[in-house]
Amino acid sequence: MDTTEIKWSELPFGYFKTDYNIRAYYKNEQWTPIEVSDSEYFPIHIAATTLHYGQEIFEGLKAYRGKDGKIRLFRWDENAKRFRYSAEGLLMAQVPEELFFQAIKEAVLRNEKYLPPYGTGATLYIRPLEIGISPEIGVKPSKDYMFVVFVTPVGPYFKTGFKPTKIAIERDSDRAAPLGTGTFKCGGNYAASLRGTLRAAKSGAGSPMYLDPKEKKYIDEIGAANFFGIKNNTYVTPESTSILRSVTNKSLQQLAKDMGMKVEIRPIPLEELPTFEEVGACGTAAVITPIGEIIDMSTGENYHFCPDGKPGPITTKLYETLTGIQFGDVEDPHNWITILND
Ligand code: PLP
Ligand code: COI
Repeated sequence: MDTTEIKWSELPFGYFKTDYNIRAYYKNEQWTPIEVSDSEYFPIHIAATTLHYGQEIFEGLKAYRGKDGKIRLFRWDENAKRFRYSAEGLLMAQVPEELFFQAIKEAVLRNEKYLPPYGTGATLYIRPLEIGISPEIGVKPSKDYMFVVFVTPVGPYFKTGFKPTKIAIERDSDRAAPLGTGTFKCGGNYAASLRGTLRAAKSGAGSPMYLDPKEKKYIDEIGAANFFGIKNNTYVTPESTSILRSVTNKSLQQLAKDMGMKVEIRPIPLEELPTFEEVGACGTAAVITPIGEIIDMSTGENYHFCPDGKPGPITTKLYETLTGIQFGDVEDPHNWITILND
């Protein structure tokens, strides 16, 4: 397509067709070389384990176009590591780091014309996924697997962008069990989160906030993003066995330390919420989204932040530093960036 017609700054966070995707197969206990496909479809066996027993994992990362025209990836090795960890959790074949990188590089460069220009607020979202493809009817892992990487240009995940957003505490469903699959990035967790997401949307919130699934006492995470709170020059974020370990959160912890702040990773009781000076959601899609209001959909209780309607100063500084590194505007002291078109 003629990409000059795309209104980059109006793109939603949604699927937008690009020209190519990358595929590799695990057969006879080894991975095939990557293949480039121009089809958005693939045939699949009716008894494939992914369709019945949910053997599916995925990742999400972005490619950023800098002012200098360079294409940057942010900490792709962390996504590669988490992809292997998720595979291990669902007894799936692990994609080696080199294959992961080769596939995302190829997917981005082949679709370079879809990489949104600098300054438009849009980025190229990269979606690696892996599925079990062998036919099984007993509940057991697949022998063979398919690894796919596609890319799609996206706008902000939260419609508000970098503005205070509303979040709703969900108590009627959990996205994961205490020792379940919450730390793995598998499709089942997202199917489980659909009810909470819908309820949150109906109450005018951008996302549900999950509490710990055992006691409903501690803050877990926010839909497809981790939670952080700021107080007394400290960055506080939940420790839990049922949340996804966010690459963005890990990076913000480092940036907070670089700014001279303390970092605490610990259970956060819900009662502590009003004591935070600033709270936010963070993730690849969410970037950093300041939270202005949290409503409890069961009790009707309401928590307010950002009294002047603007994101707090520390959230703003973290946002500027993180996105500055990602787009190449700010120095990258921790070597988080890989340039793809050098
Ligand atoms: N939590 C969940 C459930 C997610 O889906 C995501 C998105 O990947 C995150 C947190 C944020 O993780 P990351 O910063 O690695 O994108
Ligand atoms: C991401 O931030 O990459 C995610 O995976 C969020 C997605 C589920 C919308």
